[in-house]
Amino acid sequence: MNVIVVAAECAPWSKTGGLGDVVGALPKALARRGHRVMVVAPRYSNYAEAWETGVRRIYNVGGQDVLTRMILLSKAAVETPWHVPCGGVCYGDGNLVFIANDWHTALVPVYLQAYYRDNGYMDFTRSVLVIHNMAHQGRGPLADYHRLGLPGHYIDKFRLFDPLGGEHNNIFMAGLITAHRIVTVSHGYAWEVQTPEGGWGLDGVLRDHNWKLRGVVNGIDDKEWNPELDVHLKSDGYTNYNLHSLDTGKAACKAALQRELGLPVRADVPLLGFIGRLDHQKGIDIIGQAMPWMMDQDIQLVMLGTGRKDYEDMLRHFEGSHRDKVRGWVGFSVTTSHRITAGVDILLMPSRFEPCGLNQLYAMRYGTVPVVHAVGGLKDTVQSFNPFNESGLGWTFETLHVDAFIHALGNAIWTYRDFKSSWKGIQQRGMSQDLSWDHAAQQYEEVLLAAKYTW
Ligand code: GLC
Repeated sequence: MNVIVVAAECAPWSKTGGLGDVVGALPKALARRGHRVMVVAPRYSNYAEAWETGVRRIYNVGGQDVLTRMILLSKAAVETPWHVPCGGVCYGDGNLVFIANDWHTALVPVYLQAYYRDNGYMDFTRSVLVIHNMAHQGRGPLADYHRLGLPGHYIDKFRLFDPLGGEHNNIFMAGLITAHRIVTVSHGYAWEVQTPEGGWGLDGVLRDHNWKLRGVVNGIDDKEWNPELDVHLKSDGYTNYNLHSLDTGKAACKAALQRELGLPVRADVPLLGFIGRLDHQKGIDIIGQAMPWMMDQDIQLVMLGTGRKDYEDMLRHFEGSHRDKVRGWVGFSVTTSHRITAGVDILLMPSRFEPCGLNQLYAMRYGTVPVVHAVGGLKDTVQSFNPFNESGLGWTFETLHVDAFIHALGNAIWTYRDFKSSWKGIQQRGMSQDLSWDHAAQQYEEVLLAAKYTW
């Protein structure tokens, strides 16, 4: 098929989070399956701007106008098949599908419908909208509708009444209503977005349209995230490893990481890690609450991320008050994130909600054991360790409460220390999984076909 993927970011050129990774990898995986794929994404002059579009929930706050940019991007994307041949991408042969991502490009299905399909053009062209994060919807005052350049009667697709009173313009809602198919980035999240907690006001819309909704768990880029090939492990005492050299390889990476961070180099101490946006979503506050308990244990902890100022300060504070045990790295570095993934024993992901989550997948690929809150994609991808039949890939906890987190983490630490063969089994099972995009791309292909036969 002919596929045009449209998104606000695309790794390695622009990336603020998992969206960029997905948009960097899915098109290649679809192309490997024989489809002709084009990606339309903005050319940012720097990464800082990509960050702005990614994190702002209300698009008209601050000095820049993200809505105008996203209108332009979406209009341009819908125009591309008319102007960019791309080796033959053609709107007329019944085989073209747009894949739009998140609210930023949710206008793509709407413009396709209003400008073309309603007027008898591109009738065979379809659209799929992927939900990576429901919390950001492109909300704004209803008056913004007039900036979109759409016929008057389309306003009903955008107008959302707030239960607390008032109404607003909601870009994501219009896209979800109009798209031929909707994908969420995990099965668990497909269910969660239909609940009041997970739908952020659009759960009713998603329940009404759940006939066209499907979860597909993201894959990982197996060249980029592969301990055997990882370019970031080729120097400074780090080393590449695979399932067979797991013990020695991981031990070398752990020692190199401890050395690089200036922590005591000790093979026996459980080394814990956190990588991610310092955001309420990621449950940083739960780690904060667990800190006194953690500092009573014989452990080491490294945290890497940027985001909310108060959380950044918290990281600096932890490091300052426990210099022998904690490193809080405010910032983002691709190399460091790879080295932490390889060097730590346990990865913490107490996310409040997590549509898919990629870090737990990277961790498992590197023989690092995840401890996660059982939500969304984390629940789909990390089965809890069961000591009775030696199954499972990590530890999960059901309730987002510090006690539940400590309980799961305590079990992980205990198993690491006292049940070495169980620990190794968990690592080996994690490393042996097929987490590649090829698997996910096959499911996207089914969605594209389903879209093709949807009127
Ligand atoms: C968003 C979600 C994350 C997901 C990523 C890629 O960043 O928060 O869970 O993995 O998108 O789909």
